[in-house]
Amino acid sequence: MDLPKLSNVDVVGKRVIVRMDLDVDEDYTRLEFAEETLDYLVSKNTRLILIGHKGRPEGEKIPELSLAPIADVLGGIVGEKVNFFHDIVGYEVQKRAKMLGEGEILLLENLRFEKDEEENNEVFSKDLASLAEIYVNEAFAVSHRPHASIVGIPKFLPHFAGFRFLKEVEALNRVLVSPKKPVVLVIGGIKEDKVEYIRSFTTIADKILVGGRLPLLFGEENPDPDKIMMGQLIPDKEDITLNTIDKFKREITKAGTIVVAGVQGKYEDKGHRQGSLEVFNAIAASSAFKVAGGGDAEAAITEFGLNERFDWISVGGGAMLEYLAKGTLPGTEALK
Ligand code: 3PG
Repeated sequence: MDLPKLSNVDVVGKRVIVRMDLDVDEDYTRLEFAEETLDYLVSKNTRLILIGHKGRPEGEKIPELSLAPIADVLGGIVGEKVNFFHDIVGYEVQKRAKMLGEGEILLLENLRFEKDEEENNEVFSKDLASLAEIYVNEAFAVSHRPHASIVGIPKFLPHFAGFRFLKEVEALNRVLVSPKKPVVLVIGGIKEDKVEYIRSFTTIADKILVGGRLPLLFGEENPDPDKIMMGQLIPDKEDITLNTIDKFKREITKAGTIVVAGVQGKYEDKGHRQGSLEVFNAIAASSAFKVAGGGDAEAAITEFGLNERFDWISVGGGAMLEYLAKGTLPGTEALK
């Protein structure tokens, strides 16, 4: 997939709007992933406007979901002052953006405080686009959403993929394009939307190991018993059984490529981490090409000290699965 590269355009002194992954709580890893792009743009004396969302406020202005506290964190990452502006569109924002000096950085408020963001309203996209001369997508984790800041703004501005975004796509393409077989998807967690991903993954995966709460969402039904191994859960449903751990480990040993999405149980509790710990340790020990994605999987891998053993840890959970299932995302299409 050929995405337009930021390094191929003259950005010096220009006003650049960067869509970032700012949906973080206490773990700022996602923000750090954008460092290369931000450092590059700062080194080119651009006038930077940073945009992003936090949580799901659905058009309401919820103070706890303000991006204001993120400004200082981002400032610490780029080593420059990041000024926060308490609005997203309108005259005041236009005025502030036009006043930006070379090298100045402005962070706007949570995009999802306006329902126009999720509705991909064209006027809203145009207003945001009018703040800048160049658009950069450094928000892979939300690029499965056809929202204004992902697919709307790039219609009105020259658009480019951030450095990390490009690396995400390159790493995931290694799973999509002639992966080493067998391909094993190890999926868990509690989110219902994973059920659909499991169904679509039967086309690219040779085995799908299903843990976490997900087996409960299928009930008695297994749509593809040859490929899908439904884990058995312990009585309180917070972890997989020892028998399931053994079965999963046997499949992992045979894998050529492994994709991890979600955890096998409530690993935060010492009494419910055996499934995730043993399965993730087995994956770490395998010589397969290994990628993992999503907040919980990443946090568990970090807690177990296994980061270095993975070939790629994606910023995206849903975005990673959708990219692997479909080979594209609304956000990558918008950049083409
Ligand atoms: C994420 O945190 O995975 C992304 O920010 C997407 O968030 P969403 O599922 O609320 O769209």
